[in-house]
Amino acid sequence: MIKAKTKIHKFRKTTPDVQTDVKAPLVEALEKFYKNPMMQFHIPGHTGGRAAYKPFKKLVGSNALLLDTTDEFDNLGTLHPATGPIKEAQELAAKAFGAQRTFFLLGGSTLGNLTMAMCQSKKGKKVIVNRNCHRSILTGMIISGAEPVWILPEKLEEWSLWGEIEPCEIEKALQENDDVAMVWITNPTYEGVVSDIKAIADICKKYNVPLIVDEAHGCLWNFNKNLPLSSLHLGADAVVHSLHKTGGSMSQSSMLHITEGSKFDADEIERTLQLLQTTSPSMLLMASLDAARANLESKKGKRQLSRAVQYARYVRKKLSKIDGVNVLESGEHFDRDITKIFISVDGLSGKRLESILEIDFDIEVESASDVGVLLLINIGNTKQEIQYLVNSIEKIAKSNYSDIYYIEKRKHMPMLTPQIVMNPREAYYSEKETVEKEKTIGRISAEVIAECPPGISILLPGELITEAHLPYLNEYKCIEVIKNK
Ligand SMILES: Cc1ncc(COP(=O)(O)O)c(C=O)c1O
Repeated sequence: MIKAKTKIHKFRKTTPDVQTDVKAPLVEALEKFYKNPMMQFHIPGHTGGRAAYKPFKKLVGSNALLLDTTDEFDNLGTLHPATGPIKEAQELAAKAFGAQRTFFLLGGSTLGNLTMAMCQSKKGKKVIVNRNCHRSILTGMIISGAEPVWILPEKLEEWSLWGEIEPCEIEKALQENDDVAMVWITNPTYEGVVSDIKAIADICKKYNVPLIVDEAHGCLWNFNKNLPLSSLHLGADAVVHSLHKTGGSMSQSSMLHITEGSKFDADEIERTLQLLQTTSPSMLLMASLDAARANLESKKGKRQLSRAVQYARYVRKKLSKIDGVNVLESGEHFDRDITKIFISVDGLSGKRLESILEIDFDIEVESASDVGVLLLINIGNTKQEIQYLVNSIEKIAKSNYSDIYYIEKRKHMPMLTPQIVMNPREAYYSEKETVEKEKTIGRISAEVIAECPPGISILLPGELITEAHLPYLNEYKCIEVIKNK
């Protein structure tokens, strides 16, 4: 057993830097709110933290609670309709990303996907979508009643991962289907595989069908030339970004961009978003979106990002030279986001590698599959952390850790083609019954089963359950199926 536990905290830099080269109107408005406290006879009921549970307040710090307010108060502006500093912050975000309009999302990219589905895909219409889409797109179809037409991306068999979406597959689906509401592509994949969005967008234009790109994992691309080009500039009509994933904003905060020249009506989308979005939007989350955008545009943020890109290159180079370590690189046909590094170590499952890194090295990875682990090189990682990561993986590869005591029977990445035998909305709202998993073969699923991360469906309503599903469902005793079918 390697004794390598190290106090990670010592690697953390705590000195705040002042950034004066960019504007962040929402951050400024929140600062004014903080500096000019008013007597509060309004929500939230914790009243600036006075009525908060003490251990919680101590943990998060009193400022977090003092700043926890919603829109409407004290000149902070409103989210729906966007006014004041919130409107200004959304406009600055649109400018930074090169969009016609940008909307702040306080329910993650999930909310952006639900909004686009509810607004733009109607009952009886089809949505051409990649098999490895996030479950929120399927939930959106349950809301709208649209039907998925599956595109199977390339399979990276040895990694047990989905690869790029081939443009010719999109063209084929458009040729074979009428009533297509839109093409909806995930780019990059969770593991960083990048498809040719320009070619896909050109095909969509040829067929006069709008293109949405779920770019949840690609929000940094606009800010560094060594990263792939954002779909915002490749012909997509709408793009969803999880700023909270890699962009530096707080969890749950995302953006929906309507691109210049989009086929979508931004006002109509805003009206739909208003129906789905909370009516008590957190100023902290919105200010964190404003702050993340300002940071990425600032000199300091640009330096952080180019450092992250350099670190990612360094990690790839070092790891690829270690015997027994394998790094997923670009393929013949696909590009990749170099900051997302998927690796495997010979003789260890991804789950086992994850647990060794966690238990013996205090390193937490983004996710683990049967095959490998996903490492994200973030804008906040330090040089020391990067070196420690490389050294730790080298130590693991050179020692004789084994999988022997690790029982992990579950399969992680469903690479099955769903057989949809009933419209997902119809299935979801049908009469259901709960059946033991082993007895569900040949039945029709009535629920979405998709584990997060990466939130890719194992089963969705209307899908025929087959024996091939079982290895992915080890943790489920029962499944909801359509009654009497
Ligand atoms: C491709 C993709 N789209 C959308 C989402 C949903 O994002 P959020 O967690 O911001 O709601 C995820 C989450 O993992 C995702 O991987």
